[in-house]
Amino acid sequence: MQQIGIIYHSQSGHALALARAAADGVSANSALSVQLYPALQSGLEALVDSAAVIFATPENFGTISGGLKDFFDRTYYPAEPLKLNKPYGLLVSAGNDGRGAVRDVERIATGYPLRKVAEAVIVRGEITERAIEQARELGGAVACGVELGIF
Ligand SMILES: Cc1cc2nc3c(=O)[nH]c(=O)nc-3n(C[C@H](O)[C@H](O)[C@H](O)COP(=O)(O)O)c2cc1C
Repeated sequence: MQQIGIIYHSQSGHALALARAAADGVSANSALSVQLYPALQSGLEALVDSAAVIFATPENFGTISGGLKDFFDRTYYPAEPLKLNKPYGLLVSAGNDGRGAVRDVERIATGYPLRKVAEAVIVRGEITERAIEQARELGGAVACGVELGIF
């Protein structure tokens, strides 16, 4: 069965809550399986074994978290010959901005390559019900696109 991989890093739980909500959205809207991958403990398998991935990260110092950066640093060269070109979505938890994290994931993803298939969701401040719903919707949209063969 195809799976959606959700690759996340989170210090205080916000991005993790979004990642879990996206996983719920995958399960609620498709028959695909879903796997959560903590970025620091995961490697190339998270990309290879997934039909599509969703990244979830806080914005730290105007960019992605060190944990997700570490994942990209370790997998970039191993992924290069595979020409993955898989669909991806992005969830960013931020204090008051988030745009730097989006910019940098989009730039890094171009190099793998990975294909952006949905607008990034930026959640600023506390994780509200609305934020959970947005993350669920992103998970559902990515899963439906894969299941229907649109991506
Ligand atoms: C070291 C550090 C740097 C941060 N830098 C930014 C930033 O540049 N822009 C922003 O909007 N929020 C910034 N924040 C706030 C976090 O993005 C926000 O608290 C986020 O919800 C944390 O997610 P987490 O609970 O998944 O770790 C920063 C937080 C920390 C700890």
